[in-house]
Amino acid sequence: MISIENLVKDYGETRALNGLNVEIPRGQVIGLLGPNGAGKSTTLRILTGYINPSSGTIKVKGMDVCEHPIEVKKLIGYLPESAPLYTDMLVYDYLNYIADIRGIENKPDRIKELAGLCGIMEVMHRPVRDLSKGYKQRVGLAQALMADPEILVLDEPTSGLDPNQIAEIRSIIREIGRQKTVIFSTHILSEAEAACSRVVIINKGMVAADGSTEMLKNAENSGQSIELIIDGPSIADIKNFFEDFEDTSIIDLHQHDDGVKFEINSKSDLRKDIYLKLKDTDWVLLEMVQKKQSLENIFRDITKEGE
Ligand SMILES: Nc1ncnc2c1ncn2[C@@H]1O[C@H](COP(=O)(O)OP(=O)(O)OP(=O)(O)O)[C@@H](O)[C@H]1O
Ligand SMILES: [Mg+2]
Repeated sequence: MISIENLVKDYGETRALNGLNVEIPRGQVIGLLGPNGAGKSTTLRILTGYINPSSGTIKVKGMDVCEHPIEVKKLIGYLPESAPLYTDMLVYDYLNYIADIRGIENKPDRIKELAGLCGIMEVMHRPVRDLSKGYKQRVGLAQALMADPEILVLDEPTSGLDPNQIAEIRSIIREIGRQKTVIFSTHILSEAEAACSRVVIINKGMVAADGSTEMLKNAENSGQSIELIIDGPSIADIKNFFEDFEDTSIIDLHQHDDGVKFEINSKSDLRKDIYLKLKDTDWVLLEMVQKKQSLENIFRDITKEGE
C-alpha cells in the first residue's frame, strides 16, 4: 500500500538517503530504527509530502506523493519529530482549530473521542506551552489522528519521555495499530519490539535489515553469544585459549570475583568445543550461558561500522 522505491535524498553535499526500498502493506505496524542521521526523519518527511526526494519515488495507494501531494496528505496523519504545536492556544482550542482545517463535521464529539484515546482529558483547558513533553506528544498524536487517517506516521513519538509516558504512548500506538497502518521511528529497540510487527533498520540512508523482530533475532548472521566465568586462567591465558577458534571475538574480558569473566561471539555454537578444550586444563568452569540475541545487539552489529 506504501511503496518506497530507490529513494535518494541529497541535502547539498550530504546524501541522507541512498536508494531506500521498502514495501509496506496495509494495516502493518512498522518501526523504523537507525542511529542518528540514518535518514529516518528524511524518509518520513518525504512520505508525508513535506520535502521532495532527489530521485526515486514513494507511492501511497498507487499515487506518487510528489504528483498527488494533497490526496496523499489526506490519507496520512503525521506527528513530526518536534511537533509544531501552537503553544499559546489552549489544548481544546488548538484541536478545534485542527478540526476546522481538516473539515471535521461533528467537532466536539471528535475532540472528546480523541481526548479519551490520547489521555488528555484533564489538560484540555490548559495552554499547550504549559504542558509537559509527554502531554505535548499526546496532543500532537491527537492532532495527527483528527481526520481518522488510514496511515499514521510518527517520528520518534516517545523521545524525551519518562518510562511511564513511554509505556502509555506505546499502548496508544498498539491500540491504533489494530486498525491502521502505522509507521514510526524510534531509537528505543524494546519499543519497536513491543509495538510493531515489523522492524526496518536503516543505516546510512539504506535498509540494513528488514523483518519481524523474531526473524531478525534468528537470522543466521546474527551469530551466537556465550557468557563464561572460568576460575584459574589469567586474562592472557583466555586470549591464548581462544586463538585457534576461528571467527570468534572475545568481549568484555575482565577479572571477576570468582574468576575471569567474558563473552565470546561466533557464527556457530561453540559450547561443546569450549568444554572439550577446557578438559585439558586445570581451570574450573563456573558458568557457561548461551545468551539470546537481543535486538539491541543486532542493531549494534548492523550499524556499528564507521560510526
Ligand atoms: N535540512 C537539512 N539540511 C541538511 N542536511 C540535513 C537536513 N536534514 C537532515 N540532514 C542530514 O541528513 C542526514 C539524515 O538526517 P535525518 O534527520 O533524516 O536522520 P534521522 O535518522 O532522523 O536521525 P535522528 O535519529 O537524529 O533523528 C543527516 O546526515 C542529517 O545531517
Ligand atoms: Mg530524526
